[in-house]
Amino acid sequence: MAITEAIRLSTTASSVDFDKSADTLPSVHELIRTRWSPRSFSDRPVSDQDLRTVLEAARWAASSNNEQPWRFLIARKSDGEAYGKMLSLLVPSNQEWARTAPVLIIMAAKKNFSHTGVPNAYALHDTGAALANLFLQANALGLSAHGMAGFDRERAHEVLGIPADYDLGAAVALGYRDSPDKLTNERHQKAETARRQRKPLNEIAFGPFWNQPLSL
Ligand SMILES: Cc1cc2nc3c(=O)[nH]c(=O)nc-3n(C[C@H](O)[C@H](O)[C@H](O)COP(=O)(O)O)c2cc1C
Repeated sequence: MAITEAIRLSTTASSVDFDKSADTLPSVHELIRTRWSPRSFSDRPVSDQDLRTVLEAARWAASSNNEQPWRFLIARKSDGEAYGKMLSLLVPSNQEWARTAPVLIIMAAKKNFSHTGVPNAYALHDTGAALANLFLQANALGLSAHGMAGFDRERAHEVLGIPADYDLGAAVALGYRDSPDKLTNERHQKAETARRQRKPLNEIAFGPFWNQPLSL
């Protein structure tokens, strides 16, 4: 399916008829412009094929020394108790909405390089790059993903059996968007339709020296 077609379907497949596209330069790719982090998910399951595709996209991220430090723990609603266990690791305000997502993911990052045992200062950095691939691939398939830092890392290690030589990255809710009306929390409902914001480019991009304006 062409990317444009997938995006069109992603905004019409559920009763979601508002536009959360970022106010970017028109030259930015629409997959980036139309990605956002919803909280209202429908109970439509994610197919094995689509789940495999988003993970495959993540797998092909670049990483320091091609270490590929990322690991993904996946819980689907159909996993029943195991899904509940992963959900219970989230902070209450995330549980409130993430419980509607058919798939939960927790990302881990191997702390040390496999071939030398030396600490990999880029482990979480590269795991974040894999997450960005996952976000965009999800959008291309008409799915949405929402990252979460709000979960109990220590308990996640224990409950999910994650070895001590792995750091924890983000948790992720993945599924199809649904109407904001389904959110019971007013704050979440407001956020769902609010315009998306970013810092201006001149605050984050400099010339060769810190704070030196970049002329473009
Ligand atoms: C690593 C990471 C952690 C996040 N943690 C949370 C979280 O715990 N709870 C939440 O509701 N949103 C969380 N978010 C979503 C951000 O708030 C969201 O990406 C940001 O507001 C920008 O909105 P957008 O993704 O719709 O452009 C997280 C996003 C990322 C990438």
